[in-house]
Order: sequence, then C-alpha cells, then structure tokens
Amino acid sequence: MKSPVRVAVTGAAGQIGYALLFRIAAGDMLGKDQPVILHLLEITPALPALNGVVMELNDCAFPLLAGIVATDDPNVAFKDVDYALLVGARPRGPGMERKDLLEANGAIFAPQGKALNAHARRDVKVLVVGNPANTNALIAQQNAPDLDPRCFTAMVRLDHNRALSQLAEKTGAHVTDIRKMTIWGNHSSTQYPDIHHATVKGTAATSLVDQAWYRDSFIPTVQQRGAAIIKARGASSAASAASAAIDHMRSWALGTEPGDWVSMAIPSDGSYGIAPGVIYGYPVTCKNGKYEIVQGLEINAFSRERMDATDKELREERAGVEHLFARK
Ligand code: NAD
Ligand code: LMR
Repeated sequence: MKSPVRVAVTGAAGQIGYALLFRIAAGDMLGKDQPVILHLLEITPALPALNGVVMELNDCAFPLLAGIVATDDPNVAFKDVDYALLVGARPRGPGMERKDLLEANGAIFAPQGKALNAHARRDVKVLVVGNPANTNALIAQQNAPDLDPRCFTAMVRLDHNRALSQLAEKTGAHVTDIRKMTIWGNHSSTQYPDIHHATVKGTAATSLVDQAWYRDSFIPTVQQRGAAIIKARGASSAASAASAAIDHMRSWALGTEPGDWVSMAIPSDGSYGIAPGVIYGYPVTCKNGKYEIVQGLEINAFSRERMDATDKELREERAGVEHLFARK
C-alpha cells in the first residue's frame, strides 16, 4: 500500500462537497491503492454541518481513508497538501451569469492562494471548481508567487463530459466511443465545445452530424447546460460537477488514455494565439503528473472566431480582478 496523500477540499459541507468527498475516500480519484487524508475547509457557521459530514465519512469505514482534518482556517486546511480542490464559493441563481459572482467569490480566492503559497507542497495540484472558475484560479495563482503557476487549473471537464454525452446521443454511440473532444476557453457561456478533431468509433465526428445541428443545437446546449440544470433542479449541478472534478484530478495524477486527450483550463502559454496567462480550456494529455497542451491542431475560421471570443471574455475578467493580485 502507498503512503497517504493529503487532499484539501474547500466548501466541504456544500452540495458538491457532499457528492465529492465520499468518492475521493473510496479511491475513485487517485486509485484503489492510494490512501488519502482529507483536509476539509468550511466557513465558521458551516462547521456544525461539516461535523455531520465527517461523522458520515467515518461511518463509511472506508479502507483508504487515513485521516480527516476539518477546519475553518485555510492555513490548517492547506498544510502539506498534495491536492487542493477549491469548491467553496457561492453558486449562481437563475438569470445570473457566472461572472456576476466575481466580486463575491474573488475575495475568497486571494486569501486561499496566499495560504496555499505558505503551506501546500511545492508540487500541489490545484483544481478550482468555484465559479467563475477560470478567473478564480487566476486570482489564487496570482496570490501564490512561490508556487509554479502551472499548479493552478480550473474545471472545464464538466463541459467536456456534457459535450461527450450530447454527441454520443446524437450519433447513437456511447461516450466511450468518442475520442478527442475539446472545450476551449472559459467555463462560461462563451466556452467553445469543438468537435472538429473528435472521432466517433474512429470516424470524424463532423462527418456524422450536420453543421446546423453543431452550430445551433450542440454548441448552445453545452454552453447553457449549467443554466438548464439550475432551472430544472432549482440548484446548480452538484453530482455531475463532483464527478467531473474527480475525472480532472484523476487524469492529471494518473494520466490520459493513449490516443485520446481531455480538456483542462490551464495557464495559457500563448498556444493557439491565446493571451498568455489567462486560465484557458485546452486539449491536454497528462503523463507522470504533468499536463501538456496538444499542439498542431488545425483551426478553421469558425473555430478561430469562437476561441477568440472566449479569450476576450477571460481577458476582460482578468482586467476586473487585477487589483486582487499579489504576484507582479
Ligand atoms: P453550495 O452553496 O452548496 O456550497 C458551497 C460551500 O462553500 C458552502 O458550504 C459554503 O459554506 C462554503 N464556503 C463559502 N465560502 C467559503 C470559504 N471562504 N472557504 C471555505 N468554504 C466556503 O455550492 P455548490 O453547489 O457546492 O457549488 C460550489 C461552487 O461550485 C459554486 O461557485 C458553483 O457555481 C460552482 N460550480 C462549478 C462548476 C464547474 O463546472 N466549474 C460546476 C458546478 C458548480
Ligand atoms: C455548471 O456548469 O453546472 C456550474 O458552473 C453551475 C452554473 O452556475 O452553471
């Protein structure tokens, strides 16, 4: 058996937390041979609820759960952590865009970035789920000047999974028949779900669906899926978001499948003409705990326009939060 790793989860008493912690403790994220110590962060008023979650975690008697730290202090929560899933933030309600949460949630991610900088392991893998996820990840990263900027990522895996599901349904295939789906850009309604490189059972996806369906149905459905869930459930997605967070971390830690890639929002290095520094959804492969952008993809005019629109939104979001940055 391996020695335990430390996994921090913020917002641990929230609805995503409730769908996430039990799967991490069961080994779904890091493997059935990897014991974990959970570090759970909540705000002070939520500590009694968090205590209930801790009681339930203990009651599961998970073989891989090697310890639990429950706290309202980020300096305790991030001490020596190998992984940090930053979920704790306010969700949006009906009629809101995710960026409407920037002011409220931006204030959470600057102090958490500082605490990660001071206490986390130097190779910590950070996934921001709390919205607006890409720019919150940037805020945390810019408050952690001693950590490698590439430690900070944001979640577009839920969008990736939604795109797989929509394309599978349309083509009468199963999600496992699809390779090389891509979500470019922001986890927002400007995101660009791109099927130009995707295959279904080895056949080019673009040859199986017509352009009108792709443009007028598939793209808006994936872009608006979060809002559709809020409308239907009266609360934002939780189990699917937790599942995508597990997928994101598992791919990063344990690697991607040969011949396939996944979508992760990572610090742009300027690849594909995107503004350097913004946390942008890219197709990536992962190996030995490192991610790498898939290079050399042909980008047509249709894609270019959409990739630039979501880049523009991320640059605008960045301009609105620069006052929260410590890293110069
Ligand atoms: P929730 O309100 O059920 O839970 C959020 C929890 O975070 C609460 O328990 C709250 O007490 C806690 N919290 C607030 N501030 C905190 C802080 N400073 N430190 C620690 N904990 C804090 O919300 P939820 O449904 O679990 O959603 C959480 C976030 O995830 C929201 O911002 C939501 O929009 C976002 N989300 C993102 C995706 C994605 O794909 N990126 C998908 C779904 C939801
Ligand atoms: C989602 O995509 O389901 C989440 O980001 C929640 C939201 O606000 O849409």
